[in-house]
Formats: sequence, structure tokens, C-alpha cells
Amino acid sequence: MSGKITFTMIKPDGVEANNIGPILAKINEGGFRIVAMKYMRLTPEQAGAFYEVHKERPFYGELVAYMSSGPIVAAVLTKENAVADYRTLIGATDPTKAAPGTIRQLFAKSIAANAVHGSDSDENANIEADFFFSKLERY
Ligand code: RTP
Ligand code: MG
Repeated sequence: MSGKITFTMIKPDGVEANNIGPILAKINEGGFRIVAMKYMRLTPEQAGAFYEVHKERPFYGELVAYMSSGPIVAAVLTKENAVADYRTLIGATDPTKAAPGTIRQLFAKSIAANAVHGSDSDENANIEADFFFSKLERY
């Protein structure tokens, strides 16, 4: 499956703004199929573990607090070249720099509240998908 999956979350701002439906529509229009999905709220401990790679970054505490501040939608997506194509679809981390028509340009509010997460490598896509979903939850 290498190269064929990526992992995404609709972040608390996307859920709060009632943008689950529009964001999922963009994901489908972008050629991705949803192969696992759940709606949940992360504890600070879970958010901290998920973003462990950013532990030394200055924004880590803010990121963990934000990602546990409300419910999220977690999903595994499949498509050829999934990781790179999904990052193109979501746009730059900072929504003021995100290309027109990208998910972040359309729906993000700030760097922290930037609507969605997308995996940055095939290796991390698999780690992140396994963090949220068992084999029985992926079809
Ligand atoms: P993500 O992991 O959520 O898909 O975002 P990304 O790859 O585009 O950005 P990354 O560098 O992995 O950062 C993870 C998340 O941390 C928040 N962030 N805040 N205040 C800041 O300068 C800052 N920089 C990053 C963002 O919410 C980013 O999505
Ligand atoms: Mg990242």
C-alpha cells in the first residue's frame, strides 16, 4: 500500500464551523476515497502523543491544547500518490499563503486553526493511520 494512503484530521475549527461536509466533498472531488473514519475528541495526552515529532517546537504546547479543545474527524484516505496530492489539495500551513481553491485557503482561520491535518510522508501516514484505526476499522 506504500504511496497509496494518507491520514487526515478535520481540526476543531473545521468541525466547529460546520465544515465537515464541505471538506469531505473537497476530499472526494480531489479523487480520494475514504477507507476509515471516526468522530472523536482527543485528550491532551493523545494529542501530545500524536504530535510527538513536534515536541521541541515552540508551538507544541499551543498545538496540543488546540487539538484537544474540541472534537475532530479522523480519516484514512486512499489515492495514487496520496501524501503529496493531499498536501497539494490542503495548501500551505499558513492559510494566508495557501493557494486559491485549497482546503486551507477556503476553510482555515489561522496557522493554528488551519482546518485540516495531512500526513507529510508515507511512513508517517502509516504511523498516523495506525494511531487512530485498527485493521478492523479500515476497509
Ligand atoms: P499538519 O501536520 O497539521 O498537517 O500541518 P503541516 O504539516 O502543514 O505543518 P507542521 O509543520 O507539521 O505543523 C503542525 C501544525 O502545528 C501548527 N503550527 N503552528 N504557530 C506556529 O507557528 C505554527 N506552526 C505550525 C499548525 O496548526 C500546523 O498545522
Ligand atoms: Mg505536519
